[in-house]
Amino acid sequence: MSIIRADFEKMNINKIRKAKGNKKLSVITAYDALFAKLFEEMADMILVGDSLNMSFAGQKDTLSANLEQMIYHTKAVCTGAPKAFVILDMPFGTYINKDSALKNAVRVYQECNAAAVKVEGGEDKADIIKHLTSNSIAVMGHIGLMPQYVRSEGGYKVRGKTKEDTQQLIKDAKAVEKAGAFCIVIEGVLSQAAKEITQAVNIPTIGIGAGNVTDGQVLVWSDMLGFFEDFKPKFVRHYLQGSSLVKEAVHEYVQDVQNESFPNKNEEY
Ligand code: KIV
Repeated sequence: MSIIRADFEKMNINKIRKAKGNKKLSVITAYDALFAKLFEEMADMILVGDSLNMSFAGQKDTLSANLEQMIYHTKAVCTGAPKAFVILDMPFGTYINKDSALKNAVRVYQECNAAAVKVEGGEDKADIIKHLTSNSIAVMGHIGLMPQYVRSEGGYKVRGKTKEDTQQLIKDAKAVEKAGAFCIVIEGVLSQAAKEITQAVNIPTIGIGAGNVTDGQVLVWSDMLGFFEDFKPKFVRHYLQGSSLVKEAVHEYVQDVQNESFPNKNEEY
């Protein structure tokens, strides 16, 4: 069964805002043209996440990703999926103050066809988000467990476990909304807290590890398709056994090379 949308048309921030309460949004990451093309007509948005530093570049966290890398991968994604709404994840250190954030986001818009950028942070980053949105940059927020804070917080910590923390997350979401973001990723948050945050704002919330109470979901493609083998977070569902299938196929290829059944007569000039 195909779920490619017959009515496929490019997303924009107004359609995304209007989806709240009407349609659940599906977001998936992509880092290259090949996979982006496969996802283009099914996902509502494609995120070029700085998670590529882990699953693509093999690093232990996202912090060493840089803007050149993110632009390179976003160009590939936009080329493979020209109709997709593509978001570039601003890497660590590229939005430490208003001026550098704007300079780097303008560079993103000038060098690739990203429709928006994503920044991690709540109340603490509201003035930076406001500076971007008031200078015509579309911003997706990201609150809750924020991977770029992993070293300063001493690990990845699930959020929203107490009333106080839930109240802080609601303040974060409201600050990001007020600063002009068109939607917010909520990562690693207890489902009840994610529900309260989702109800507190008028822009869509996109959950990852936040239960099914948000206005949409996002998954990292290599987690979703079972390619990332180092660990499987509780919230990930494998829709494909990617690594096993690839290993079986490569094993078969190596055997065929060794027993000279590849290439056969039909596969030669
Ligand atoms: O980097 C990323 O892929 C992300 C998603 C997990 C939301 O930020």
